[in-house]
Amino acid sequence: MPEKQVTLSSKKYLPDPQYRKEAWCKDAAHAYQGFLTDPDGFWGRISQELEWFEPWEKVKEWEYPFARWFINGKCNMSYNCLDRNAAGPRRNKVALFWQGDDGSERSYTYWQLLREVERFANGLKSLGITKGDCVCIYMPNIPEQIVAMLACARIGAVHSVVFAGFGSDALHARITGAGAKIVITADASIRRGKTIPLKPILEEALINATTVDYIVVLRTQDPKIDLLPEFEKDFYELMESAEKNCPPEKMDAEDPLFILYTSGTTGQPKGIVHTTGGYMVGTYYTAKYILDIKDSDIYWCTADPGWITGHSYIVYGPLLAGATIFITESTPDYPDAGIWWKYIEKYGVSIFYTAPTAIRMFMRYGDEYPNRYDLSSLRILGSVGEPLNPEAFEWFYHVIGKEKLPILDTWWQTETGMHMITTMIGEPMKPGFAGRPIPGVLVDIVDKEGKPVPPGVSGQLIIKEPWPSMMRMVNQNEERYRQYWSGPDNSYGASDLAVRDEEGYIMILGRSDDLIIVSGHNIGTAEVESALVAHKAVAEAAVVGIPDEMKGNRIMAFVLLRDGFTETAKLKQDLLYHVRITLGPIAVPSDIRVVDQLPKTRSGKIMRRVLRAIEMGEDPGDLSTIDE
Ligand code: WT7
Repeated sequence: MPEKQVTLSSKKYLPDPQYRKEAWCKDAAHAYQGFLTDPDGFWGRISQELEWFEPWEKVKEWEYPFARWFINGKCNMSYNCLDRNAAGPRRNKVALFWQGDDGSERSYTYWQLLREVERFANGLKSLGITKGDCVCIYMPNIPEQIVAMLACARIGAVHSVVFAGFGSDALHARITGAGAKIVITADASIRRGKTIPLKPILEEALINATTVDYIVVLRTQDPKIDLLPEFEKDFYELMESAEKNCPPEKMDAEDPLFILYTSGTTGQPKGIVHTTGGYMVGTYYTAKYILDIKDSDIYWCTADPGWITGHSYIVYGPLLAGATIFITESTPDYPDAGIWWKYIEKYGVSIFYTAPTAIRMFMRYGDEYPNRYDLSSLRILGSVGEPLNPEAFEWFYHVIGKEKLPILDTWWQTETGMHMITTMIGEPMKPGFAGRPIPGVLVDIVDKEGKPVPPGVSGQLIIKEPWPSMMRMVNQNEERYRQYWSGPDNSYGASDLAVRDEEGYIMILGRSDDLIIVSGHNIGTAEVESALVAHKAVAEAAVVGIPDEMKGNRIMAFVLLRDGFTETAKLKQDLLYHVRITLGPIAVPSDIRVVDQLPKTRSGKIMRRVLRAIEMGEDPGDLSTIDE
């Protein structure tokens, strides 16, 4: 993609100076200087705020493209999240509030959460799980999901959380890809007041998933569903029959903590592997110094633990920082578009971290919903997942922030594990810009030749130095891992286009590869295309992202039918349904066009940019490589 001149606005909002005085990080520029002067010292000092069973000997070893952090340090993530807090003044502090769609509520203090995690960890052990085994977690946004994650971390099992909105094929690929020995699920999830069975999706996904020894089922429905005696275990029976105390496993800093699948550009999702020590330090650092979590905060991140945002900023970072977390299964507009504001008022939420797609939805519903509620407990607003466009920023700033609150637009990725770019608390905010790299992170924007572009010119975003919570591997695909680190001067290529202004503020323009970000979810064109082609009516398919006011992008599919099939509304419905069942609702195209031919290069690559341009009524650009 060629570099382009971009016109940038210079609009700025200055935050209340009080924020800077009270923030954990009082002077971002000074902290950044400290990092530049002594990068290892910077990370080493942060790591000392956490507990290590055995201290590390060296901060990092970098042998391109492989980094190791906190060499020979021994630690445990669940110990640092739970025991460390439960041993001190936070013992009786609420760690987790949960609000169900039906009005039910639950809470766990740090002590209580530790108790649950220890027993469930022993339950997993009783099923034969030991350090290094993979456990897949396919559950809705409920406390047991978090208990399951922390229990894995406690015994050194590698979790692979799969978002409960994924369909059976997507789930199957993730279970077998990681070689999961156990899958933990629930009988159902509740969406918009409706019960959606989860276990049948898992049953389908388990066909030919030979690594799985047992499944564990959280039964929430009345009457309880039946379980197969030998193979299916009840979540609470497993827990209640287990020992109370489970000492944390001594993990090496570089032992894997989890695998999380993210969309690939070539069909197969990529299993991103994160390790224990570096990820722990990175998420702790950013939860404390970027999100500015204090003991008095009630913290709400509206993501799902099935995504990296949930791993880093619902579960691990905030618990490491000793936060009180709020979670809910509720969707933002059910029973009406006031429900989230109602929860903010009810629980006194002070840090609210959400996504542009939700903000744009609230904008559409109008100011009257938030205006019905007392939002005065709010102190900090955050956004993640896709660009926070200036209109959405303004609305968030004026209507929710009452022109007082800082907004953190945080840019990062599944692969980075932690925040990389944002406007830190107390710094001037610029609508449309994520901000500058945070202390600890070195980035640049470069052209095709790898040369830095001047301000106002777009280019590829790269990260120039390793950071503690960087992914360590793409599961079973070293080649793919290496590709990430093929930027200029051995840098990491983010596959995002970006532009910088004179003050170094970075605006993210979107992906430069074949991923589409739909409502903040990363979807691979190839994944949707292979799902479509798997249908008997489809010979070939091409999928593109079209800009959408609400979702950021929407998925548009072009299909070529096989002989003997003709275009009907029913057939299109069938195809959409087929994608929904195999991949899940988030991957369903918003429209399908039946075509006679797909534009291809002479080597047979589908030219998606041509389809996109035609669909949007734009000039398709250089067609010299097109066949016919
Ligand atoms: C891609 C990573 C990081 C958690 C959620 C998504 C886009 C993410 C922003 C932002 C503009 C953003 C990028 C990135 N993205 N945050 N604040 N502004 N774009 O994680 O699924 O790994 O997706 O999301 O394109 O590369 P992910």
